[in-house]
Amino acid sequence: MRVLGIETSCDETSAAVLEGSGDSVVQRSLVILSQDVHRIFGGVVPEIASRAHLTAIVPVVDRALADAGITRREIDAVAVTNAPGLVGALLVGVSYAKAYAFALGVPVIGVHHMEGHLFATALEHPQAVPPFTALLVSGGHTLLIDVDAWGRYRLLGRTRDDAAGEAFDKVAKLLGLPYPGGPHIERLAATDVAAASDRFRFARPMLRRDQAPGDDDYYDVSFSGLKTAVRNAVTTADLERDGAAIARAFQDALVDTLVEKTTRAVAQFGRDRVVLGGGVACNNALANAMRGRLAPDGVSVFAPSVRLATDNAAMIARAGLFHLENGERSDLELNAFASQPLPGLVAA
Ligand code: KG4
Ligand code: ZN
Repeated sequence: MRVLGIETSCDETSAAVLEGSGDSVVQRSLVILSQDVHRIFGGVVPEIASRAHLTAIVPVVDRALADAGITRREIDAVAVTNAPGLVGALLVGVSYAKAYAFALGVPVIGVHHMEGHLFATALEHPQAVPPFTALLVSGGHTLLIDVDAWGRYRLLGRTRDDAAGEAFDKVAKLLGLPYPGGPHIERLAATDVAAASDRFRFARPMLRRDQAPGDDDYYDVSFSGLKTAVRNAVTTADLERDGAAIARAFQDALVDTLVEKTTRAVAQFGRDRVVLGGGVACNNALANAMRGRLAPDGVSVFAPSVRLATDNAAMIARAGLFHLENGERSDLELNAFASQPLPGLVAA
């Protein structure tokens, strides 16, 4: 099956063509157009995002087909992100995908954005397939999930306030770094070679030794207190001198928390694979710390490259392909939703 994927949930307009079946899928093309304009505002402006998607969607899809060396008649189905995200932005992709599929007489399938992130890593790492423990860390979500099969997700933990990427973005702002802040924090933190960060050690949120499975904070995370701690440190610090140390101390606290919670899930469910997904998943400090902690126990950790970690249509096509092969279809009533639970949730 040859699937055209479309993603417009936030500030990238993306289209991709995938071909294959089951877990043997080839990525024929992937086009990602990032909307630079939001940098001026220090965050995504929804109305501007929708308009930019409208301008970009036609050439981006055409380019994806051209890069794949196919015509639109050779598409067997269209997969599109329909939740969660900015409704106006999602609607551009959803409307376009429905019209495209209708005109071609092929099925369309709506895909949950976070399920897309769950599938992304498998496009690069053939072993990043179930069963595994998944940590999805993006700008809007932080989800710890046990995956025993594609389409069957046991949600173990989530953030109670800020998502991991959101914490990176807010801390970046406090440190005077551009949006999106994650890559800037990672780079700055890496320059803290003298380990000056020791002076700024922040508490690891939601982490106590006496927590046990079944406690409602055993798997959940919370990053807003950490952000406040950074804000307090910044008020008395000389950013020129201490910026790198603060960035490093923040990243260490966040990474430690995520590694500990993930390790707990791996142990409880006896998994030997961890799959990272979402924009923060391409943070090398996170992937390295995860490997450092889990490799000695024989657990493999798979992280996506930057292109597949951040928002892209290949992951949407990949998740869509799974549902299509499962016999699922959306109809032309398919709508966009700002929030929606992950499909396929099973009792924790
Ligand atoms: O998955 P994504 O592209 O969009 C959402 O679905 O939200 O994630 C974007 C988030 C942003 O918060 C960005 O700062 C963060 O991913 N991010 C990073 C890195 N690269 C992107 N965070 C930490 N380290 C990075 N290298
Ligand atoms: Zn995303």
